[in-house]
Amino acid sequence: MMKTITVFKGDGIGPEITDAVLTILQAAKAPLAYEIFQVGIPLYESCGELISEKAFASFEKNKVLLKSPITTPIGSGFRSINVLLRKKYDLYANVRPAKSNPAIVTPFADVDIVTFRENTEDLYVGVEEQIDADTVHATKIITRKASERIIRAAFAYARANHRKRVTCVHKANILKMSDGLFLSCFNKIAKEYPDIVSDDRIVDNMCMQLVQYPQAYDVLVMPNLYGDILSDLTSGLIGGLGLMPSANLGSEYAMFEAVHGSAPDIADKGIANPTAFLWSACMMLDHLNEQAVANNIRQAVDQVLFHKEWLTPDLGGQATTKQFTQAIIDMLR
Ligand code: NAI
Repeated sequence: MMKTITVFKGDGIGPEITDAVLTILQAAKAPLAYEIFQVGIPLYESCGELISEKAFASFEKNKVLLKSPITTPIGSGFRSINVLLRKKYDLYANVRPAKSNPAIVTPFADVDIVTFRENTEDLYVGVEEQIDADTVHATKIITRKASERIIRAAFAYARANHRKRVTCVHKANILKMSDGLFLSCFNKIAKEYPDIVSDDRIVDNMCMQLVQYPQAYDVLVMPNLYGDILSDLTSGLIGGLGLMPSANLGSEYAMFEAVHGSAPDIADKGIANPTAFLWSACMMLDHLNEQAVANNIRQAVDQVLFHKEWLTPDLGGQATTKQFTQAIIDMLR
């Protein structure tokens, strides 16, 4: 049965990778209809809003959003629309799988790590206060409710996907109350999953361990900011941001996006790698119970990566986004 989804075409490389992914979804005969909206800087410049009411209403109706990156100004300007979407629709679980692809050679083989990043609180609430001309305070919020549900989501995922270990990442040695609460929620919920190994790591040590022994880690769960940083680290282990998809899941809504940003340094050059966004679309197809279409696309990507002829520059090739896209379409069954 045809399912309608909402698509947000962001800015920077957003429009290029959205066109690539929609072309591939159509070629793979994904049973989807699309409500497509331009969002981000171009809309802001033309009418002063980053996302239109119609675009919000479409997501609220369809419940599933495929979203390409949106720029957030650094240091000043408007607040992150990505953070707003996660908060507004209570998309509390940010799931970021980092799996080595045999065709992409990195110093780290056999990495298979899924990061569960809490998505609604921590320093990301963006509450900052100017105390005096030389002092700013930022508020870190950790609640039992938000901590428990992301930790449960990580363990439930581990059990459903036959994963063996869940590791909690924190800084509870210094942030004894806030990260201490997160860790105590973890230790409590871990007891409900005796079939899964549970342990914890302090975030700085975790960074080193991920570089030294990435194969030792399986499912990771952590507060928002550590999840943001460590999932970029895990993307580096498997070959870069161009290869890292994500799902932002809540109890009612689901949003799928690449982990990377709008990559302004390569925007409009026609060389963006659409793989991360395409794999995010595959996670969306899994979510919609269209695994066969998702797997067909995944095997086509694997073949294109393996043959190396049509790789984009970030993967060491010289192909354009359009050539890479066409190569994937040619490999669909
Ligand atoms: P970025 O992820 O956009 O880029 C980092 C580096 O990776 C750049 O050199 C870029 O060219 C490269 N890169 C990223 N995606 C790529 C792709 N698909 N193909 C080839 N190369 C790729 O991070 P940056 O520069 O820190 O952020 C740029 C903007 O994106 C900022 O305004 C930031 O706030 C925003 N952003 C948006 C996100 C979202 O919409 N979910 C997530 C992260 C950042």
